[in-house]
Amino acid sequence: MSLPTNTISTADWVAAARDWHLRNTAGLFEDPYASKLCGWRLKLVHLIRPLEWVLFKVVLKPIVPSSMCVIMRARYAEESLERLIEKGIRQYVILGAGMDSFAFRRPDLLDRIDSFEVDHPVTQRKKLRRIEHAGLKVPPNHHFVAADLSEVSPVEALAGTSFNASEPAFISLLGVSYYLTPEDLASTLRGIASGMCKGTRIVVDYMFDVQSSDPATHNMRRKMLKFVAKRGEPMRSSYSMDAMHRLMAEAGFRAVENFRMTDLTDAYSKNLPPLAVEPPDMFGFANFEVK
Ligand SMILES: C[S@@+](CC[C@H](N)C(=O)[O-])C[C@H]1O[C@@H](n2cnc3c(N)ncnc32)[C@H](O)[C@@H]1O
Repeated sequence: MSLPTNTISTADWVAAARDWHLRNTAGLFEDPYASKLCGWRLKLVHLIRPLEWVLFKVVLKPIVPSSMCVIMRARYAEESLERLIEKGIRQYVILGAGMDSFAFRRPDLLDRIDSFEVDHPVTQRKKLRRIEHAGLKVPPNHHFVAADLSEVSPVEALAGTSFNASEPAFISLLGVSYYLTPEDLASTLRGIASGMCKGTRIVVDYMFDVQSSDPATHNMRRKMLKFVAKRGEPMRSSYSMDAMHRLMAEAGFRAVENFRMTDLTDAYSKNLPPLAVEPPDMFGFANFEVK
């Protein structure tokens, strides 16, 4: 599967969303590295505040609520990782990592684990250039692996690194499932379940199919699909909660949790000022374990 090389990618946009959240809305997730990794065009927007305001408050207004799901998925995944580290997990695999700054942001967790970020070569090349340009130091136990998940399984991609498939791992697949066809997602999941050991956990956010999402979000959904397709990254799949459960079970996983992302809104907004933007009810969260 090819990705465009010369546009602002969805990975750049979601990094800009984390940066916008850090400085403008409630503190659900703090990513002080997002502005360094989002690419020069969005960095410029970040520096020119009136331009940034126009972009987020006017141009992107119809789809900005979906950016809350970018924030919530990042928080949920890292909270899950924290709990699993307490239970002894020592490997974290970030599939389709984009501009995720875990390596720089969480030395507290990285002190206790090895992390591996697997991404499409086009995105990862860009990220490595940005890391170098920003003068960021990659910790020795954080590893970069370039792979197209529509061509190789995560296990094949990780072969040749220090990843140990006979030890359980925590895997995140955030903001990626909908860019894969259902067949490619199923084959990625099967590859994980058959190649990694029992107890390996995966957290995946997924887009609801039209019937499962709140009708009030349908217009936003149409605009979001158009926005990403125009940038060369069409969304290719969506699921009901039952369909996601079946896909996971058929691949070899058992459910830990499978829920609507908006179920987290109350818990995440406790002790915070009201969320500036309500997350739309159009994404689900699957947290499954290799049987
Ligand atoms: C919207 S970004 C999400 C990035 C990150 N997980 C986050 O939440 O900020 C989508 C990511 O999926 C990756 N991706 C899409 N198709 C892929 C494929 N076939 N193989 C590997 N990565 C892919 C892109 O390179 C990009 O990093």
